[in-house]
Amino acid sequence: MSGFNILFVSSEVAPFSKTGGLGDVAGSLPAALSHDNNVIVVSPLYSSVDREKYGIKPAAGGCCVHMGNCEEFYALYHTKYDNVDFYFVEFDKYFNRTGIYHTKAGEYGDNPFRFSFLCRAALQTAKDLDFRPDIAHVNDWQTALIPYYIKKWNDPFFDQTKSIITIHNIGYQGIFGSEFMEYAGIEKEDFHSGAFENYGGVNLLKGGLAFADKITTVSPTYATEIRGPIGSSGLHELLNARGGDLVGILNGIDTNVWNPKKDTYIPYPYDAKTLKTKTKNKLELQKRFGLKQDAGIALFGFVGRFVDQKGLYLMKDACIRAMNEMVCQFVVVGSGEQEYEEFFGSLPARYPGEMGSYIGYSEELAHLVEAGCDFFVMPSLYEPCGLNQMYSLAYGTLPVVRATGGLDDTVENYDESTGGGTGFKFWAISAEALFDTIGWAVSTYYDRPQHIELMRKRAMKQDFGWKRSADAYMHLYEAVTGKGLYL
Ligand code: ADP
Ligand code: GLC
Repeated sequence: MSGFNILFVSSEVAPFSKTGGLGDVAGSLPAALSHDNNVIVVSPLYSSVDREKYGIKPAAGGCCVHMGNCEEFYALYHTKYDNVDFYFVEFDKYFNRTGIYHTKAGEYGDNPFRFSFLCRAALQTAKDLDFRPDIAHVNDWQTALIPYYIKKWNDPFFDQTKSIITIHNIGYQGIFGSEFMEYAGIEKEDFHSGAFENYGGVNLLKGGLAFADKITTVSPTYATEIRGPIGSSGLHELLNARGGDLVGILNGIDTNVWNPKKDTYIPYPYDAKTLKTKTKNKLELQKRFGLKQDAGIALFGFVGRFVDQKGLYLMKDACIRAMNEMVCQFVVVGSGEQEYEEFFGSLPARYPGEMGSYIGYSEELAHLVEAGCDFFVMPSLYEPCGLNQMYSLAYGTLPVVRATGGLDDTVENYDESTGGGTGFKFWAISAEALFDTIGWAVSTYYDRPQHIELMRKRAMKQDFGWKRSADAYMHLYEAVTGKGLYL
């Protein structure tokens, strides 16, 4: 096959491993790229990965990388999924753990060791397979050393390789003490404020941004936000210096997995023509969460990581006020910070029949919430892209969002005079603004149901498939390699 050789590396890849949107993207973008290119994906073989279910088989034993003064021996596993070759690095010392990055007790202390090892092993995998990449496409801080290694090593094998780093969330930069530098092979001369140094610590993302040939992030608006002092978590100077190499490319969604017509997790599949069937999912969702089963009550959902980024402290207040002052119901699915787990976990007892919650991770419930709710709430303080609002649109579930990052790029605000738009937006970071916007959605639901119907149909027509985004990545690959394969 012609096209580029693309080495895609990620610390999580759905459906094998996932904690959030990075997993979804790493699981579906390579498939879209593989239509015209040779793509291999490398990620860790965590003990939680279901080898049997996905036919993951040994591909090579006795693989080895030199880290500092030690040799790390590992094995390589492989499966073909969605027509893409996925390679998994099996190394029990680092990846045979309960969590991917942390447990309830906190982050794994050896994360910088674990992921610098992954970076080395990914490049070694390309060599062992004799796969000469035109592009090494890496994601977030966990794989940010790859652009550095490619630039520093002068290894003829990677002569033609250009590196792209995608920032999925600049709030997570991988900042550590310097004790792993030797192990990772970060040279002292690169420990300065234009590369890895960050207030005395080692900032892996910053180093990746300094050495990558191109930088992308996951929506156009976020690409602008991270160039300002507030949105950048301290990296705006570097990002402005590299402004000509930074581009925002909106994520796509996997329309085989997140498609109400084909969804195997929901009891009643539907599409825009059979929207009435959506109501059956709503009744099922109400039953599952012990809510009053009534198709006529406005039902709001939230699914996500319980972290401040997601605007949960706005949700806390706005939910309570909405429960007290409006006729509506809420279901919340998520896990994370203890304060939020306790708060949302306790709400069903306080508001029986009106409020449901599941504290934990459930792929099935995430799909049922998308299918069964009328509205999906995302009051994020910042949101690089956000996938749930795109899933919601595909399911005719209208998003209520703060207008930031990808949320702003993907949701069109409701126009009360025409019934236009696909969701409800607010701007201020305040519980009151969220409450008012929930109120706006509730009043539209009861007073202008014909608008809700119009918006649902419009939402379901939006195309968030990967094709457009994959094309944008292809243009970038062409620009960086100087090879005009597709122009
Ligand atoms: P982020 O990557 O910041 O977490 P995204 O909106 O990009 O946010 O993606 C989140 C993904 O993780 C979605 O697929 C969402 O459904 C999923 N997810 C998050 N928390 C849970 C949970 N508790 N149960 C099921 N899926 C979850
Ligand atoms: C991050 C962001 C989220 C984005 C996802 C995939 O985790 O928080 O907004 O959708 O990565 O790019």
